[in-house]
Amino acid sequence: MDRLQKVIAQSGYTSRRNAEKLIQEGRVSVNGVIVDKLGTKVDTGDSIQIDGKSITKNDNKVYILLNKPRGVISSASDDKNRKTVVDLIDTNERIYPIGRLDYDTTGLLLLTNDGELANKLMHPKNNVPKTYLAKIKGIIDKEAIDRLKSGVVVDGKKVNIVDFKVKKKDLDKEMTYISITIIEGRNHIVKNIFKELGFLVDKLTRTNYAFLDIKDLKSGEYRYLTIKEVKKLYSI
Ligand code: URA
Repeated sequence: MDRLQKVIAQSGYTSRRNAEKLIQEGRVSVNGVIVDKLGTKVDTGDSIQIDGKSITKNDNKVYILLNKPRGVISSASDDKNRKTVVDLIDTNERIYPIGRLDYDTTGLLLLTNDGELANKLMHPKNNVPKTYLAKIKGIIDKEAIDRLKSGVVVDGKKVNIVDFKVKKKDLDKEMTYISITIIEGRNHIVKNIFKELGFLVDKLTRTNYAFLDIKDLKSGEYRYLTIKEVKKLYSI
């Protein structure tokens, strides 16, 4: 049994807060009976309607966008008992991350229990663009920029760099901020691109994944994707 507003939010219909509002406004019914008090719990078999329309049942599929903090590992469990990204999500579903971010990398990470979508998005042929903001030690030079333009080879394979932009050169602290968009998802790929150019990545955050961005979510916060967003991911 889960709280009604949570189930509505998990269906992707709207946010949990807005679901609470809809309930209090008397617009939600469970098995044909209007429920206007918060705190009602529902079962997977219950029929939920909003304004008389059934909300799409997703077979309890959940899709979550997390702003991953540093110091958390991107897997469902850890043999060393470190905190995982799944520990940050309040759900009973068996979710796992779609791809991974390093322990010290922050930012946009999707989690789901939908194996079909996860496999689809992680398949290299699906070309999902991911944008990272890298803070690198040192001031980037023309030679490195030319190499980013012409393509960088990591472990014998050329990386498809879709786009990059030097955001800021901090001459006092000797740091450069660069946003970089790539398609592939090899482990440590961004750090290795800059290593190849002779620069160390000091901080790395993923800001975008396909059409999704991390705006509005603080570190450690998450939200459920909307049905529209899930459909759009499926159509990639
Ligand atoms: N590239 C990296 O180097 N680390 C990440 O976490 C993601 C991409």
